[in-house]
Amino acid sequence: MSDLTGKVALVTGAGRHRGLGKAIAQRLASAGAEVVIADLGRPLGPQFPSGLVAETAEMEEVAAELRQSGRRVLALPCDVRDEGQVEAAIRRTVAEFGRLDILVNNAGVGYLMAQVTETRLEDWSAVLGVNLTGVFLMTKHAARQMIAQGGGGRIITIASQAAKSGFPYASAYTASKHGVIGFTRSAAIELGPHGITVNAVCPNHVTTDLGSWQNQFFSRALGQTLEEYLEAMRRRIPLGRPGRQEDTANVVAFLASDEANYITGEAINVSGGEEMH
Ligand SMILES: NC(=O)c1ccc[n+]([C@@H]2O[C@H](COP(=O)([O-])OP(=O)(O)OC[C@H]3O[C@@H](n4cnc5c(N)ncnc54)[C@H](O)[C@@H]3O)[C@@H](O)[C@H]2O)c1
Repeated sequence: MSDLTGKVALVTGAGRHRGLGKAIAQRLASAGAEVVIADLGRPLGPQFPSGLVAETAEMEEVAAELRQSGRRVLALPCDVRDEGQVEAAIRRTVAEFGRLDILVNNAGVGYLMAQVTETRLEDWSAVLGVNLTGVFLMTKHAARQMIAQGGGGRIITIASQAAKSGFPYASAYTASKHGVIGFTRSAAIELGPHGITVNAVCPNHVTTDLGSWQNQFFSRALGQTLEEYLEAMRRRIPLGRPGRQEDTANVVAFLASDEANYITGEAINVSGGEEMH
């Protein structure tokens, strides 16, 4: 098991009970890290509706549950599209914990689905704003802190299978996740000399709140029952099941550890064999 004792991790979009971000934060805390969970904290207009984003009460519940690991955990509101809020979140992390060693860019929007011809600019901008610009802003300011404190660091972005393959109704999402891979590769080259590794993880379907929403959406779009849709999904995955939150969390914990110190610029699939390139 990776030992992250004494490390400080910040995980974005980690404020929901069933989310990948919480599972990642839990896994890092159980490996010994102190953890900051940063999430939106409130609904914000039609692109960030109630029920699809984390609100303060849920974030605080998640933080309380994570504290049962015995680690210190802080929940912070942060819109990753806003550079001022991003800088404030990093400053607060350092004020509370003294440093920042691990950034996990997990915040993402995957529910604004429409065919290209029907995609509204404001939805496109919201998806790109969180999934790509948010990753850039968080990485920029986390890397500045890591360089200033010395000793290297780890930056890990949760991309997607949609970073490798196209999906209907998801051109904005797919473009943002493909973009994250290019960003990861460039940042890895620049930050390597500082001992900072930059990697992406590409899960296939995981039944989080977002995942459930997507299952409902795609089964309806294909004219299938939910069970028919899920059965077809299981049949195309060589390992016979969709991903679980802990499958991704385990890979993140490995990438965050000393054992992964020679891995950078990668986009690692966690997909039961569904995605192989
Ligand atoms: N669930 C899947 O099947 C799946 C598969 C591959 C990749 N992913 C990716 O994993 C990540 C987590 O997804 P999830 O399935 O746990 O969904 P989720 O909806 O539970 O988590 C996404 C989180 O991002 C937060 N968020 C949204 N906009 C934000 C903003 N502007 N600033 C800060 N936080 C914001 C939301 O509040 C939410 O807590 C996403 O990047 C998603 O694209 C998910």
